[in-house]
Amino acid sequence: MCGIFGIVTSRDEPLGQLLTEASKRLSYRGYDSVGCATLTSDGTVDLRKDVGKVDEVAARLRFHEMRGTRGIAQLRWATFGAPSQANAQPHLDSDGDLVGAHNGNVVNNVELREAFISEGMTLRSTNDGETCVHAVERYVNQGYSMLDAIRRAYEDLEGDYAFVIGRVDENRMYAFKKGSGLVAGVTDGSAVVSSDLPSILPLTPNILRIEDGEIAILEPGRIELRRVEDGRSVEREIETVTETMEEAQKGGYAHFMLKEIHEQPRRAGEMLHLFDASPYVTAMVERMKTARNLYLVACGTSYHACLLGATYIARLAGRPAIPVLAPQFVPQYVPAVGPEDVGVFVSQSGETKDVLLALEASRPRGLQPLGLLNVIGSTLMRESRVYLPLACGYEISVPATKTFLNQALAFLYLALRMGGHSTADLHGLPDLLEKTIITTGLQIGDLEGDLARRDDLYCLGYGLTYPIALEGALKMKEVTYAHCEGMLSTEFKHGPLSAVTEGYPVIFVSGPEDVARVVSGINEVTCRGGRAIAVGEEDPRLRANAHDLIMLPKAGPLLNPLLAVIPLQLLAYRLSVARGYDPDFPRNLSKTLTVD
Ligand code: M6R
Repeated sequence: MCGIFGIVTSRDEPLGQLLTEASKRLSYRGYDSVGCATLTSDGTVDLRKDVGKVDEVAARLRFHEMRGTRGIAQLRWATFGAPSQANAQPHLDSDGDLVGAHNGNVVNNVELREAFISEGMTLRSTNDGETCVHAVERYVNQGYSMLDAIRRAYEDLEGDYAFVIGRVDENRMYAFKKGSGLVAGVTDGSAVVSSDLPSILPLTPNILRIEDGEIAILEPGRIELRRVEDGRSVEREIETVTETMEEAQKGGYAHFMLKEIHEQPRRAGEMLHLFDASPYVTAMVERMKTARNLYLVACGTSYHACLLGATYIARLAGRPAIPVLAPQFVPQYVPAVGPEDVGVFVSQSGETKDVLLALEASRPRGLQPLGLLNVIGSTLMRESRVYLPLACGYEISVPATKTFLNQALAFLYLALRMGGHSTADLHGLPDLLEKTIITTGLQIGDLEGDLARRDDLYCLGYGLTYPIALEGALKMKEVTYAHCEGMLSTEFKHGPLSAVTEGYPVIFVSGPEDVARVVSGINEVTCRGGRAIAVGEEDPRLRANAHDLIMLPKAGPLLNPLLAVIPLQLLAYRLSVARGYDPDFPRNLSKTLTVD
């Protein structure tokens, strides 16, 4: 989830400032460490890196002094391996002839590292970017050319990543990717490559997008593409982009919220790959399975993921889990917890004070704290006995979208493992999410006009979709400033039904198993003149009884909630824009709440 940048020029130049500027343009992704390496024409390597902000590290390590014909800059956003000087990138191979940096995740990192150590290579960190360098070193040591060594290393490195590498005695660099993005650019006297278009744009609008299975060879003023499979050349026209920096940072989307909604299929896939290869999943599952009491503790959106998690765990692992808002955990449960109990503390930021206070309060009583978090190096990570990363990359928009999806998916994964079930079917989720974004995005168009004028609505769900209704309502409130209440659908008749008047909008989120029950609720609203909007799989009962049906792809009861949240996120986003607000930065709110 990091950012990389590389440049090749024809003669030794002061590259330090250029690398620092490129790093700054990558910083919108979020990061914990920064590093630069330069290689000179006479074969010397200068490597400087540390934990900290670009300006501070660049000044302290005097990046401006760095010179060379080739340069690499990297911003690290840790997923595995704590933020540290050793884990910061770029990395060297054993004898310092190769320098490389990556972004993304190599999921067979542990196995490869062990193999490299047993083969006699020198490893200096636990970071998977270093693993990429040694993967190439292994074949260079066997006498392969750089190109052929990279072709072989490509097959060994599993995961979603992009990588750039240089060798002291060749005035060129090589870059390749699997899953992650990678773009190269060419100018008269140089060639550049980066994980992010914005870091290249001020240098050149002339770019080449690199595909999986290709190796870009960067030389001053030219880029050559070769196929990993057989080493043959690939012909591709240079394209000229017209995007501004800001547009490029938003990936062509109008807002980060929309970009992050669209990132969900990829982020879900990346987290599944990580979990499949992670020993920490087993450690977490064992502790959750054997706990006397299992608490799921969080705030806001993360709490909604806990509610869904508890339902998954009951259904798939046959054991109760107690979801609880972090501040309420203290008076309601902490006095009764003990060392046999486990708390899974869930937080995107890992810095929410309410969550950290709850963890702190339970410590003297011996509760075992586990973490589910997005920000590696956060306080929650350090306080957890075992943690799992959400692998979402930096979430810029204040409303949490992609992190909610991966929190909920992480709970589904853990629940399946706790119950001894296979997780293989989850790998179909990214495609279903992609389809849902496209199809529901079109369907909600009909609702926008009416709903954008409303200052009051409800969002109801039942069973597995109850937490989704709460989450949809929170998103709606957060970015549209309208009052939207989330509720269990069966509770509506116990009071709020009195609010319904002609045209009053009520959204019903339905799982495929709950249609009969939801249809009763729908009729209670429609017979009083309200407008019932159903979100669910195609079902004649929903179609016949609701005014509108936002149809989800068929996915079954377990995956349905993960799809159902998508149209609610999209609707909240569109209504926010229609009402003239900035969904990325809603008034009065902050991304990370480090106050009581
Ligand atoms: O970083 P956390 O997950 O601990 O944050 C908790 C809440 O503040 C957060 O989920 C908030 O509710 C979201 N911005 C809602 O979109």
